[in-house]
Amino acid sequence: MATNHIGKPKNRVDGLKKVTGSAKYAAEFNAPGLVHGVVISSAIAKGRIKAIDTHDALEIEGVLHIFTHENTPGLAWFDLSYKDMDSPPGAPFRPLHSDEIQFNMQPIALVVAETLELARFAALRVKVEYEVETHNTKLADSLDEAIEGKGFRAGFEPPKSIGKFEEAYEAADIKLETEYFHGAEHHNPMEMHASTVIYEEDGGLTIYDKTQGVLNSRHYVSMIFGIKRKKIKVISPFVGGAFGSGLRPQYQLFMATLAALELKRPVKVELTRPQMFSFGHRPITIQKLKLAASPDGSLQAVSHSAYSETSRFEKYVENVVNWPKKLYRCENVEEIYKLVQLDMYTPLDMRAPGGATGVYALESAMDELAYKLNMNPLELRLRNYTDEDKGKEKPFSSKTLKECYRVAAEKFGWSQRNPEPRSTREGHNLVGWGMASGIWDAMQTPARAKARLSADGKLEVGSATADIGTGTYTIMTQIAAETLGLPMEQVTAKLGDSSLPFAFLEGGSTTAASVGTAVKYVCDKIARKLLKEAGKIDDSPFKGAKMEDVVFRDENIVDKQDDSVFIPITEVMKLRGLGTIQKKTTALPNFLKQNKYSRNTHSAVFAEVKIDEDLGTIKVTRIVTAIDAGRILNAKTAHSQILGGVVWGVSMALEEDSFMDHHYGRFINHDLAEYHIAVNADMPDIDITFVEEEDHVVSPIGVKGVGEIGLVGVAAAIGNAVYHATGKRIRSLPITLDKAM
Ligand code: MOS
Repeated sequence: MATNHIGKPKNRVDGLKKVTGSAKYAAEFNAPGLVHGVVISSAIAKGRIKAIDTHDALEIEGVLHIFTHENTPGLAWFDLSYKDMDSPPGAPFRPLHSDEIQFNMQPIALVVAETLELARFAALRVKVEYEVETHNTKLADSLDEAIEGKGFRAGFEPPKSIGKFEEAYEAADIKLETEYFHGAEHHNPMEMHASTVIYEEDGGLTIYDKTQGVLNSRHYVSMIFGIKRKKIKVISPFVGGAFGSGLRPQYQLFMATLAALELKRPVKVELTRPQMFSFGHRPITIQKLKLAASPDGSLQAVSHSAYSETSRFEKYVENVVNWPKKLYRCENVEEIYKLVQLDMYTPLDMRAPGGATGVYALESAMDELAYKLNMNPLELRLRNYTDEDKGKEKPFSSKTLKECYRVAAEKFGWSQRNPEPRSTREGHNLVGWGMASGIWDAMQTPARAKARLSADGKLEVGSATADIGTGTYTIMTQIAAETLGLPMEQVTAKLGDSSLPFAFLEGGSTTAASVGTAVKYVCDKIARKLLKEAGKIDDSPFKGAKMEDVVFRDENIVDKQDDSVFIPITEVMKLRGLGTIQKKTTALPNFLKQNKYSRNTHSAVFAEVKIDEDLGTIKVTRIVTAIDAGRILNAKTAHSQILGGVVWGVSMALEEDSFMDHHYGRFINHDLAEYHIAVNADMPDIDITFVEEEDHVVSPIGVKGVGEIGLVGVAAAIGNAVYHATGKRIRSLPITLDKAM
């Protein structure tokens, strides 16, 4: 389909604001009389606060109040059945609720002062005495305490075994048993979590929050503080990185709201970088895999089990072991998913939660199997290729993974690979090639949108979604401009405002399919209204015309059969005396149609590494990836999404590791000096291809979503390349040089 905007490599419509610093983030909003809150974090992992002495701190002039569990009872209430839109089973953490310490760095007080410096200074003068209890933060030592990973959570599919694993495994010729481990990872977006809460004269609240869902934040504040929703406005026009960290309301929102309500003043609370390590992480999982195949490589049996950490108060579940049945044709699959409750905060979604880690283990094990079979790893994947989700016994709504493998292998030059590990050298370096598959969910969630066309031909579209840097503003603008035949400059997209029509959290790679469809539908409504009005104009060539008879192009309604017959949109507005046309609509997924299929995005990832034989230093020198993600709305921002995912994957493979000092039960490398993330200098050439695909089952606009798939598979491809380079199988992430030596 010929288009003017959709699919093109358009610049971000918010790009200028971002690079010039005029894009405002949650901590950058101000108000007359704004005061600052600093959070005090617990120094122990488990026990009680015996005494908290705020006397010296309160003496300091300019210190307004110190909120602790002792002076907050009754100020905020918690119904334990309360859930946010992304809650796992359990009861969310309740800040300042009691003297009980449940995890290290638990927020135990908020110091509010006239300036940030004063609040910080005063916080140092608060003395806390603890009654320490023995904590346990060690997953590996606690596997016998594991409980079933189950319960309801948005997007979570409980594990389900099929066929007869044990029998098939016993009977098979080739068997492999292996175990994978990865460290914890923490979100480190540039923008730290912050909330600026303005107390309005009428008792209402205007809240600038760092969030992936303004409606989720509003729901939280409404439920916890017992305030009517219509009195709460949550605003979040820009988000400085999130990818899961902003899905759930975090404690800075609670603290700032509490203080604003009590002091009746505007309050800002921004977490420090170390405090970014206090509210959730990608949980460590210990994964065991058993694979059995016949000599030709056909999988006979697969067992994937995972043990993952969670808190004592919530059972954080994600889809770790659910992927073999979707990736491979195998009749006998065992899936086991267990949790161990530890004295830590509840883990938190991080880009492709479960998939990034589960597929890492699966695709590493597949590589091991390929070597055992003496088979090309790519051929092993193709031998077991499936057009059906074996678990659901449903076909895929679209799956172009074969083409992904073909395109990426060819671009990479995979056919030139010497199968022998440790066979390729370049001076000091051992060179290795590895590959892996990736898979993620493709979903449309219900979303609403509104649109307003003005007499001057300017259009505004809005939905209460978020743009976490992914390009939501831009694709909303493109879809609206395309549908009504307007230049993009004439369209303004609004989001990140709780007064806008409903959208679900900006997560799970669902936004383009969901909000995109709502924007399309609402603009279609405006188009229909315009055509109807055009038909009422005297001597109109569009009398009785139907939508199929016309196109909206170059700011005109144009006769499809005859280009010379057209009327400018602004003329219709003028001649019909219309000031504005306003519409609102709801886009609901077609569940009946969707339920007949399994819906996923797929990828193939090929990686090259060079490892210094003497020093063990690992450099990823090339990544080639091909992605099936349905229709691509914006070639540039979609490419950037995958680029970001690959960078994250390199980071996951080689750098990121939140190190827990179990003596204290605390993550100790809690700053960017010691928590390493991949930087520009670590980045290889990254080659990205989107294979030709549209999927009108996942969404009416053909989109499957690109937010997360770019990451899945990258760590496995790199690990597999490290093996090929060195002959050493490293079964734990990150692959640091001490392990590679
Ligand atoms: Mo993503 S982890 O769904 O923001």
